[in-house]
Amino acid sequence: MVSTVLGALALVGVWCVYKYFTGLRHNIVIARRSGIPYIVYPIHPLNILWQSTNMFWLPLIKKLPKSWWEGRIIVMHPDWSFKFNQAYFDWVGSQTVIVVGPDQMTLYTEDAEVISQITMRKEAFPKDIARYGLLTMFGQNVVSTEGAIWRMHRKVTASSFNEKNAAHTFAKALEQTEGLVEYLFGDGDKSQDSTGTIKTLEHGTIVWALNIIGYVGFGLRLIFPGQNPPEDPKQKKYARLDAPPGYTMSFAASLGGMLERIIAILIFPTTLLKYLPFEFAREAWGSKVNYKKYMDEFLIDKIQEVRQGEREQVGMDIMGELVRSVYGEREKNSASGSAQNTLTDDEIISNAFIMTLAGHETTANVLHFAVLLLAANPKAQRRLQQDVDALFGNTDPSTWNYESIINGLLASYVGACMNETMRFLPPVTTIPKIVSPSSDQILIVDGQRHSMPAGLSINIVTPSTHRNPRYWPSQPSERTGKPTDLEDWLPERWYRNTNKSDSSGGNTDDEEDYGGFTGSDTSTSLYRPVRGSYVPFSDGPRSCLGRRIAVVELAAALPAIFQKYSVELAVDDWATDEEVAKMSPEEKRKLYGKAEERCEKFIEEETSAIITLKFHNGQFVPIRLVKRGKERFISDLEL
Ligand code: HEM
Ligand SMILES: *[C@@H]1O[C@H](CO)[C@@H](O)[C@H](O)[C@H]1NC(C)=O
Ligand SMILES: *[C@@H]1O[C@H](CO)[C@@H](O)[C@H](O)[C@H]1NC(C)=O
Repeated sequence: MVSTVLGALALVGVWCVYKYFTGLRHNIVIARRSGIPYIVYPIHPLNILWQSTNMFWLPLIKKLPKSWWEGRIIVMHPDWSFKFNQAYFDWVGSQTVIVVGPDQMTLYTEDAEVISQITMRKEAFPKDIARYGLLTMFGQNVVSTEGAIWRMHRKVTASSFNEKNAAHTFAKALEQTEGLVEYLFGDGDKSQDSTGTIKTLEHGTIVWALNIIGYVGFGLRLIFPGQNPPEDPKQKKYARLDAPPGYTMSFAASLGGMLERIIAILIFPTTLLKYLPFEFAREAWGSKVNYKKYMDEFLIDKIQEVRQGEREQVGMDIMGELVRSVYGEREKNSASGSAQNTLTDDEIISNAFIMTLAGHETTANVLHFAVLLLAANPKAQRRLQQDVDALFGNTDPSTWNYESIINGLLASYVGACMNETMRFLPPVTTIPKIVSPSSDQILIVDGQRHSMPAGLSINIVTPSTHRNPRYWPSQPSERTGKPTDLEDWLPERWYRNTNKSDSSGGNTDDEEDYGGFTGSDTSTSLYRPVRGSYVPFSDGPRSCLGRRIAVVELAAALPAIFQKYSVELAVDDWATDEEVAKMSPEEKRKLYGKAEERCEKFIEEETSAIITLKFHNGQFVPIRLVKRGKERFISDLEL
């Protein structure tokens, strides 16, 4: 008996070893045939086993002789694409490399020309939707599909993304920013301690983005704690901060909980979440159940509106617009008998949810980092304020007119700060694609034609691309003394080196309009990245549908904050307010320098990409929001 079991185990062992080596050999043959440099690893960096245990192995491996692992090991680190900048590609000696493991292999690239071929040729290099299977918990949607079905989803969802709605969103984002500032600055607020230090801006920016996405996705007016909910009973149900009858949490809490606990919600079945004896599971379960109930009722309300003939839409409301387009059409068509090619109810809910998932944390992170980086770079902050003053004077944000201001705003230092923040810390750090599974595809790399094997998985490595000296003009770093300043956050870069080469246009493999904003936002005197070298929103037909909305939100928030306030790093860890008050300008400068250094180091070391790039593990950089003219440091430092 025992010997049979042992024999069976031995067989399984032999079989595993056999599979391991044949798999590896098979992949090596394929990689070699492509002619692209490839590096072989005993385990693939994206293998789930490695992903979940690398923190144990990495230190052990580094005890071995350096020549065995140096360079080679970089790609095995989580977040290597920005923690190690160019080092991996430099070590390989190529900007495109295939990383080969026994069970899978992946082409990684930071080459702008390769990236634009991949993003433009949608049929040849589709999205790897197998990696998005989990995102379909409510139904199919614009992110989870490919081919003809995606086209249909993209078409119906894209209709909400127009300039009229961008203007509405601008106004809403200004309102929400006012809410954010009140929330951060107002008295007796939880996010401040008694000295006025804001422990973490993250909570505020997350609520800010959630409230805006509540508007963008559902036409709702959500509020910050302390604000009054809207009067309209339909709006009030969603805006209130406590649970309405029949619910156990507010709409904002259920949506926020869904987004925050999305990984648990995606991995575990709902019933399991309900009974798992963990806080996170209960929260995840509660959020999901409440959210679904809100959505079902929201859907019924909207359908009723459509039936009662309230077809006119006021403002942005993606879900409402989907209901209108589907039910408006369906009811029209059912008379004539053709009613396909539209979304099901589940797909409406799914698309609305996916918009909130795509547009929430991404946008919040950019605002969070932009504000921190402006606090750590007082000169940049001054310059931003000069531009904001020139554009708006002291006019009230409620009077700011989108159409007349947006181009100037995006061409100003405000635009430069946004662009630079998304270059430096792109919220989405990898864009997964595959070579079309139906046939091999030609990719031109450094002028050479290479045949890419069908089905090969591809990762566009956004952070490395954004710091690639081959495409980005640079100077020696003043901050670190490194040969390039591409690892520094420098908004001036966007004014530095005009590249007249065309960054619009490009050849997609079809001529259809897939919606989303495709225009150019500014004058031509600014730095224009080479196409493919700047891809925070990806590019081509499958680029971010919400790009214009995200840009507009940020373009509202920054001037609305910095018109009246300055942001300074908190120095409480080194000096009390009384001590600071007594300091000479020189002492203050030294102290603030310490805070700047800590902030920069923190951003370098504590950011990681779990879904999006941000601080994790409850880490934060404390700041203070101060009325302009009342700065403790920034005004001195500029002199
Ligand atoms: C700074 C903020 C944002 C960034 C950096 C960002 C980035 C991206 C990126 C890189 C992709 C491509 C993903 C891939 O191919 O795997 C994408 C897709 C998408 N984004 Fe965004 N996004 C942002 C904000 C938004 C907002 C506000 C919305 C909606 C309101 C949105 C909706 C979408 C949708 C629907 C897609 C899928 C498009 C498709 O597959 O056809 N995003 N985004
Ligand atoms: C920011 O980037 C966008 C998109 O590439 C561009 O249109 C705009 O001119 C840039 N703004 C600045 C100030 O460079
Ligand atoms: C400008 O664009 C061209 C064409 O893509 C590129 O070869 C060149 O290096 C770019 N120059 C700068 C300064 O970025």
